[in-house]
Amino acid sequence: MQPPDEERRNFCVACIYALWGAITAALGVPAAAYLLAPPRARQESDWVEAGEVARLPVGVPEEVVFRRIRRDGWRVVSEKASAWVIRRHDGSLTAFAPQCTHLGCAYQWDEHKQNFLCPCHASTFDLEGNVLSGPAPRALDRYAVRLEGGKLLLGPVRSSRSGAA
Ligand code: FES
Repeated sequence: MQPPDEERRNFCVACIYALWGAITAALGVPAAAYLLAPPRARQESDWVEAGEVARLPVGVPEEVVFRRIRRDGWRVVSEKASAWVIRRHDGSLTAFAPQCTHLGCAYQWDEHKQNFLCPCHASTFDLEGNVLSGPAPRALDRYAVRLEGGKLLLGPVRSSRSGAA
């Protein structure tokens, strides 16, 4: 049988090792998860619902505001976004990204002139998003568009630089 002092010392050593193990696990598990499961690349959720198609006027651009989820590493951000959506007479839909292709200002629909007008440097765009005048170097960018059960779904923005517009 061990003397009481040695038993106490062994007990204290066992406690120290147990505490050390707990601290190592508390620090090591998150560190291992960080190293072994790299954060997701910056990405946006692919498709977001942007309202009822039936509520859109026909032939007139309507600014549609919606919320989308954006993931940046482990950060998940809910942010407000918008699109200029045109519901055409044949039922097709076009959704333009809301930034001017010159320097990114928010443009508006000019009802009197029947074109999009950017207030920053006066670029104008037609209903197809093509440049009519001003310094804008290319047509408006477009969202990918899908219809599902009468709802408008917007996907990623496709740059007109790639020839999608
Ligand atoms: Fe629109 Fe310059 S930002 S014309």
